Amino acid sequence: MFDPLGILPPQGGEPRGYVPIAAGGGSTRDQQQSGEGIGEMTIIDMAEVLSALAQLDIDAIRAYEQAIESVSHGGIRVSLTRFRDDHKRHVEHLSAVIRALDAVPPEYSPDLKGFLIEGFTAIQSLLGTEGALVAMRNNEELTNRKYAEAYEMNLSPNIRELVGHNYHDEQVHLKYIQEMLASRAWEK
Ligand SMILES: [Fe+2]
Repeated sequence: MFDPLGILPPQGGEPRGYVPIAAGGGSTRDQQQSGEGIGEMTIIDMAEVLSALAQLDIDAIRAYEQAIESVSHGGIRVSLTRFRDDHKRHVEHLSAVIRALDAVPPEYSPDLKGFLIEGFTAIQSLLGTEGALVAMRNNEELTNRKYAEAYEMNLSPNIRELVGHNYHDEQVHLKYIQEMLASRAWEK
């Protein structure tokens, strides 16, 4: 399994009680494994979860574009640009799945939450490289938390795999930014 950072699955073994997309209901085994408080997700539920993640990825793209403008260190700019492109890929892949679920993916424009994230990033970016990195660390903590929550849900296997891949990217982004801040790499 693709799991270089050890995130898949959280407790070993196979994913819990998921329901195949087209099945319309889980097996007895799924129901037995689903446990108290863990219901099977409907297609509508999954589309909503993926749409929320796609909106977060859209917000992250905009935040990165602001942050990149404030970073003069060449290597860090290259990395942040790559992370922005990861988020673009997430949006593409998530949107394709959302459409396959017969739902409409979010438009490429910020909602209120996205606006607040962007505004915060813009303010922080005024402080230069360090401010931009602090802002993006905060943003990436949010994306990591939301992807972790989604990964714990009873998604169908193929959707869970996509969420897991994206979550892995998010962990890489956050780890890199934390390391840059800890070493103050832009001063060297
Ligand atoms: Fe990220």
